[in-house]
Amino acid sequence: MKKISVINGPNLNLLGTREPGTYGTDTLEDIQVYLSQIAAREGVSLTFFQSNVEGEIVSAIQDASAFDGIILNAGAYTHYSIAIRDAIAAISAPVIEIHLSNVHAREEFRQTSMIAPVCRGVIAGFGKESYRLALLFFTVAQESEAQKR
Ligand code: DQA
Repeated sequence: MKKISVINGPNLNLLGTREPGTYGTDTLEDIQVYLSQIAAREGVSLTFFQSNVEGEIVSAIQDASAFDGIILNAGAYTHYSIAIRDAIAAISAPVIEIHLSNVHAREEFRQTSMIAPVCRGVIAGFGKESYRLALLFFTVAQESEAQKR
C-alpha cells in the first residue's frame, strides 16, 4: 500500500475561521476526512501532520523520507524557509507543494517559493481540491509516468 504524508504548516490549524473568503470554510479536519475517504477508495495510506513550528515541519519531512510521497502546504514558510527547502532536497521521496489559494494572484511576497525548485510540482488555487489533485498524482499520474520509463 502506498504511503503518503500530508503535512500542513503554520496557521492552517485555523482553517474554517481563518480568512474564509481566501481559504474557504472547511476546517483542516474536514479536509483530512475528505482526503481519507478518497485515499481509502484508492488503497492509499495517509498520515497527517500539522505544526506552526518550522523545525517540527523539517522533522516531519525527514520522518516521511521513506514514504511514497509528501503533500506539503508549508503556509507562509513556503516563501522564506531555507530549512524546509533543504529538508525536501535531502530526501528522495517526491514532495508536491500545494496551496489552497492561488498565491500568484495575491501579494507579491507570496509569489516567491523557496521550496518549489526542489519539489516534484506545485498545485495552487483549488481550495481543498489542491490536496486531492496532489493525491491524484501519487495514485494515477505517477504510475503512468513510471510505465513510460
Ligand atoms: C497558503 C498560502 C500562503 O501564502 C499562506 O501564508 C498560507 C496558506 C495557502 O494554502 O493558500 O498560510 O499556503
